[in-house]
Amino acid sequence: MDAVVLREETLDPADWSQVQALSHQIVDDAVAYLRDVRDRPAWRAMPAGVRQVFNSSLPTAPTPLGDVYHAVADNVMAYPMGNIHPRFWAWYMGSSNFTGALGEFLAAVQGSNLGGGSHAAALLDGQVVDWCKQMIGFPGSASGTLVSGGSMANLIGLTVARNAHAGIDVREHGVAAMPKPLCMYGSDQLHSCHRKAVETLGLGNNALRRVATDAALRIDIHALETAIAEDRRAGLQPACIIASAGTVNTGAIDDLHALADLAAREGMWLHIDGCIGALVAIAPENRHLVAGIERADSVALDPHKLLHAPFEAGCALVRDAKLHRDAFAVTPEYLETAPRGLAAGDWLHEYGLQTTRGFRALKIWMALKEHGADKFGRLIDQNIAQARYLTDLIEAEPCLELVAPTSIDIVCFRYRAADGSRVKDINVEIMLRLQEDGIAVLSDTTVHGEHCLRVAVANHRTRRADLELLVGQVVCIGAEVSVMHLAK
Ligand SMILES: Cc1ncc(COP(=O)(O)O)c(C=O)c1O
Repeated sequence: MDAVVLREETLDPADWSQVQALSHQIVDDAVAYLRDVRDRPAWRAMPAGVRQVFNSSLPTAPTPLGDVYHAVADNVMAYPMGNIHPRFWAWYMGSSNFTGALGEFLAAVQGSNLGGGSHAAALLDGQVVDWCKQMIGFPGSASGTLVSGGSMANLIGLTVARNAHAGIDVREHGVAAMPKPLCMYGSDQLHSCHRKAVETLGLGNNALRRVATDAALRIDIHALETAIAEDRRAGLQPACIIASAGTVNTGAIDDLHALADLAAREGMWLHIDGCIGALVAIAPENRHLVAGIERADSVALDPHKLLHAPFEAGCALVRDAKLHRDAFAVTPEYLETAPRGLAAGDWLHEYGLQTTRGFRALKIWMALKEHGADKFGRLIDQNIAQARYLTDLIEAEPCLELVAPTSIDIVCFRYRAADGSRVKDINVEIMLRLQEDGIAVLSDTTVHGEHCLRVAVANHRTRRADLELLVGQVVCIGAEVSVMHLAK
């Protein structure tokens, strides 16, 4: 009888040497891509023909890897979001770094799952969490977990806060069984992810009290005390103060010591949203601005912002490691710890919602090792100094005005309009032309009812000359657009 030839397949290439050559090409192209980023537009619109490429249906037959790469180079790499560009200042992004990109690549090559286990990647993940604690002055006994970003990190902190103050075993019985409805408090400048968090936690959006801010966009402590007292009188359970160490609109930093004192007096949890500002703690000239962050019960911070880790990388830290683990740990029969071997390590999934976790620690670890935390601190100081420089440039231009005080690295300003009713239209048009002409990418927002353009200098490639160019272009485009609006 003839032997049956069994053809078994794999995703590994038939010829590794071909893949090796193409990989060298990809790395060479990637180096040139980052090296020359300044020579390209900050953003450009995609032609309809390129957009069309993304409508093709599921490929069922193979395509040579070289062709796949060329399609990526032509249609994807050529039309980036732009946040690695020196004149990208929209929303609040980091600008990535090449070492971090190598870390992403190596993490994917190793392919480890950071749900837990006894292996090097898991130890390195824990080390990065320890470094995050050290950077903000948190005790070594605290726990933490790397997550996708600030939104998830805030959700982790608020989950532990809810469970610690629920008055029952809320994991077992649910929020409906809580003796009193819980309330959480933050300023009217809180990031929108907190709304998603309280909704997800079953508390409802109404349970998140938005407390008024002062002229510096910091939470009004007296108004906060009043809100807490009123809720107590109404039979509610004030559970958690959410402080902002760097608000998303303007970068304002709440008075963290005052909030830590208040939380202690009221027996409440203090969670600090430090997605923007927590890492100012490593910036020698400005670290005093976040003094008190080390007193929080939990902190959310974002290595993909001021550590410029390639997306995604957030970190949640919790002072009380037991409360943290108690909020998430589940030990199913198929994930029990073994006395020896691979399953002898810590189960990292017990500190968050995910079971499978990516090896996002490596990209942070490699860049911190290469440059040292001191350099990241200096870069944060550099961005803050650049934002202050931009503030001065704006104040020196009669046709421009600041709309909010500059606290750290975010500047809110606008082009003045002779006709106040058109001020938003004019400024939006300026923002769009800056983007479409590839000059710079800003975003806009509304602060205390005033619309403005917003420049977030969270970018290690930005130079002062870029900010001078921005101001010159805003003045120029603003004059043109205002004339058009007057003629309407
Ligand atoms: C203050 C603040 N909190 C939370 C977030 C959410 O972080 P992420 O986008 O990493 O989920 C941001 C995002 O910019 C932020 O600025």
